[in-house]
Amino acid sequence: MSDKDRVLGHADEADGIEEYDNSLPTWWVGLFYCCIVFAAVYGADYHFLRSRSSASEMEQAIVARPKVEQTTAAAVGPEAIAAGKSVYDTNCVACHGAALEGGVGPNLADTTWIHGGTLSAIQNTISVGVPEKGMLTWGPILGPEKVAQVAAFVHAQGGGQ
Ligand code: HEC
Repeated sequence: MSDKDRVLGHADEADGIEEYDNSLPTWWVGLFYCCIVFAAVYGADYHFLRSRSSASEMEQAIVARPKVEQTTAAAVGPEAIAAGKSVYDTNCVACHGAALEGGVGPNLADTTWIHGGTLSAIQNTISVGVPEKGMLTWGPILGPEKVAQVAAFVHAQGGGQ
């Protein structure tokens, strides 16, 4: 038997699967060493030369998130909340549920918030949306007044902070 196709002989422990004891193909070993070199160069560049990190990328993304003009002052009274309920019933029930209990979208009546539970945070989330998660950018659809009203309604439902 040639040296090349010698088997390792552990078929007994490996359900009959045999394995050759050949050296790895040169192209594969070359690629492997290239990967190691690339990782070292890339790692040095990422962390030290440009001082990047996933934490700072996250911070930049948060800072870059658009903020809307706050128009809450007039929009927190009982009338605004009542108007907000009708905006909610028309536009939001399908995903957040009739009792804000959640469904496709998260529960809006509990005290757990992904994007913050203050009135202005809620207003901002509604206005800007979270398009990548399926929450529309409601600002241009509803306009600032309805956004403020529906935010006041959501905020008044017990979970607001
Ligand atoms: C098509 C489904 C859909 C509709 C309609 C919808 N939402 Fe959402 N909403 C979502 C999803 C999904 C999320 C979760 C986003 C995330 O995971 O970041 C969300 C998140 C939110 C949040 C943030 C919750 C948190 O925990 O921070 C608020 C507030 C909210 N929606 C209010 C509204 C209001 C008010 C309306 C109606 C004007 C509305 N949503 C309509 C799907 C929807």
